[in-house]
Amino acid sequence: MTDNAKFQVPGKDGEYPVLEGSVGPKVVDIRKFYADTGMFTYDPGFTSTASCDSGLTYIDGGEGVLLHRGYPIGQLAEQSSFMEVAYLLLNKELPSKDELDKFMWTITRHTMVHEQLATFFRGFRRDAHPMAIMCGAVGAMSAFYHDSTDITDPQQRMIASHRLIAKMPTIAAMAYKYSIGQPFLYPDNDLSYTGNFLRMTFGVPAEKYEVDPVIEKALDRIFILHADHEQNASTSTVRLAGSSGANPFACIAAGIACLWGPAHGGANEAALNMLREIGTPERIPEYIARAKNKDDPFRLMGFGHRVYKNYDPRATVMQQTVREVFKAMDVKDPVFDVALQLEEIALNDDYFVEKKLFPNVDFYSGVVLSAIGFPTAMFTALFALARTVGWVAQWNEMISDPAQKIGRPRQLYTGPTQRDYVALDKR
Ligand code: ACO
Repeated sequence: MTDNAKFQVPGKDGEYPVLEGSVGPKVVDIRKFYADTGMFTYDPGFTSTASCDSGLTYIDGGEGVLLHRGYPIGQLAEQSSFMEVAYLLLNKELPSKDELDKFMWTITRHTMVHEQLATFFRGFRRDAHPMAIMCGAVGAMSAFYHDSTDITDPQQRMIASHRLIAKMPTIAAMAYKYSIGQPFLYPDNDLSYTGNFLRMTFGVPAEKYEVDPVIEKALDRIFILHADHEQNASTSTVRLAGSSGANPFACIAAGIACLWGPAHGGANEAALNMLREIGTPERIPEYIARAKNKDDPFRLMGFGHRVYKNYDPRATVMQQTVREVFKAMDVKDPVFDVALQLEEIALNDDYFVEKKLFPNVDFYSGVVLSAIGFPTAMFTALFALARTVGWVAQWNEMISDPAQKIGRPRQLYTGPTQRDYVALDKR
């Protein structure tokens, strides 16, 4: 039993229950704080605020721990598959062989998109960013699939979730094909989830596409590493959009919009661009100096994290994946050497040590995705594809919670106080 937390607010002292999760920091339940004191709490960026309770993902940023339903990310990345992790996140437990086969069969049966959706793509400019297309195409899906939008029905919620997980690779591959002027490829359901995506992206109708098992495994692992990450900005966006009862496809489009930003999912693209710009190890000190200069807005992309104040455990697996892909494909990209040396220099620099800035998952993901053949503009689209699993799992968890309410933060108002309207000719 934990003692209540006591707040001393002038004139009104209050006591609030302290809640304990299964692991992690305790949480002060301040839901009655406003009613008791007439005050709001102030926490821009939610650095100290838990917005929900969740049984999906646990992060200990200080120790560099990431668990999905209790399983460490390193073990999942090494031993499971993206489909298994998707099942785990949605259904709380790892699947049996039969359950996994059935789940994969179900996902495979939803891989095609409505034929009408292809016409949406043709409305975009050929040079549109794939994330702009993903945002539009996934949002447009809310105008199809009316048989899975009664969010009060768990069965319909699950069908919408399966559809989103299954169709995201098709949509991401279509966004890529459109940008390079090649025809769209229909899914091939004899292939794995990841193999099918590789074929839809890099195959052409004129030739048979052979999926390289090393690349397939590496990409599947990259998807696992991006599957979920607790209440990050895009997941919170999906939850907030969904809290009003909105259409699930529209909620995921909102998540894609948030993920696009360079401080979030756009960081892998920005990190690779930065590594390419640095070009040679000799130029690293110049960029380290810029990152430390308060008057320079430059930041070392792929470094630092709101939650991890230690090595991001996903970065460790990602670095290993780069080595495997480079070996299998016999790639020697100097950008990887720049990344390794930059990491070493930064990790020994007082500025980065004091601020606990370590490489995050994005630091190496761009290097490996580029080696596989993805253009930088596709990186965040791949992230969105994988994170869809986390988004739909979190959305389902929220909707099925009987205590769920519409999300409605408060504010500290700093605008003008009430004043009278002045007619146009008097201003
Ligand atoms: N390079 C240089 N300095 C940095 C960096 C960086 N990459 N990241 C943080 N800092 C410094 C800040 O300038 C700040 O210094 P100050 O205390 O002297 O003002 C301090 O470290 C704390 O930084 P904040 O921005 O306050 O930390 P926050 O938790 O809000 O930001 C973030 C985290 C946005 C990820 C930040 O580290 C960053 O911009 N990193 C680069 C972008 C990036 O890699 N994003 C990917 C995140 S992972 C993901 O989305 C999958």
